[in-house]
Amino acid sequence: MGKGLFITFEGADGCGKTTQIELLDKYFKEKSKETLLTREPGAKGLGIKLREILLNYDGEVSSNCESFLFLADRAQHVDCIIKPALDEGKIVLCDRHIDSTVAYQGYGRQLDIEQIKMLNNIATGGLKPDLTIIFDIDTETSLKRVGKNKDRMESAGIEFFERVRNGFLEIAKDEPQRVKVINSADTIENIHHKVVELVEKL
Ligand SMILES: Nc1ncnc2c1ncn2[C@@H]1O[C@H](COP(=O)(O)OP(=O)(O)O)[C@@H](O)[C@H]1O
Ligand SMILES: [Mg+2]
Repeated sequence: MGKGLFITFEGADGCGKTTQIELLDKYFKEKSKETLLTREPGAKGLGIKLREILLNYDGEVSSNCESFLFLADRAQHVDCIIKPALDEGKIVLCDRHIDSTVAYQGYGRQLDIEQIKMLNNIATGGLKPDLTIIFDIDTETSLKRVGKNKDRMESAGIEFFERVRNGFLEIAKDEPQRVKVINSADTIENIHHKVVELVEKL
C-alpha cells in the first residue's frame, strides 16, 4: 500500500466533518505537508454524477441499489484518486468513507452488516484508513445544524438517524485501534485541538 497517510472523517450530517477536515487541512498545509482533501460520495468526474443521483434523485431507490451506488463511487474514488495520492506520499483527508456505508446502509437501512463490510472490502481493494475520527452528536442537534435544505439522505426519519448514530459508535467499539470518537457537543476550536492530538499520535 501507499506510503502516505489516510485519515477519514465520519459521523452524522451536521456533526462538523467538513468544518474539521478543512481546519486539519489548513493545519497540515501550515506545516508544509502535502494533502489531498477529498470526500464521498462524489469527489470528482464520474463520482460527481453518482453523487447527484445519491443525494438528489427523487424517485424510488432500493436500499441495495443505494449501497451499490455508494460502493461504485468508492471503488472509483479509491482506484483513481486516493491510492495514487497515497503512493505519492500525500496525506489524504477524506470526508466520509467505508464507515458511512456500514452506519447508513447497514445500521440505518438495516442491511446485513457483515455483507456491507465485505462489499466495502471489495470496493477498496482492502485499503483501510490509518485513522478514522467519528464526530458524535445527538440527533436533535445534528438535524438543527443541517437546517431546512435537506438532501435525499438527510430526509430520512429520526429513528433512522438514531440507528446511524448507534452504528457509528458500534464501529468504534469494534475497531478501537483505527476508529476514535470525539464528542461534537463542544466548540469548533476545542474539537480541532482533539483532532490534532489524535493525528499527532500517528
Ligand atoms: N462544534 C460546533 N458547534 C456549533 N456549530 C458547529 C460546530 N461544528 C460545525 N458547526 C456548524 O454546523 C453546521 C454543519 O457543520 P459541517 O461541518 O458542515 O458538518 P458536516 O460536514 O458533518 O455535515 C455548519 O453550519 C457549521 O458551521
Ligand atoms: Mg459536510
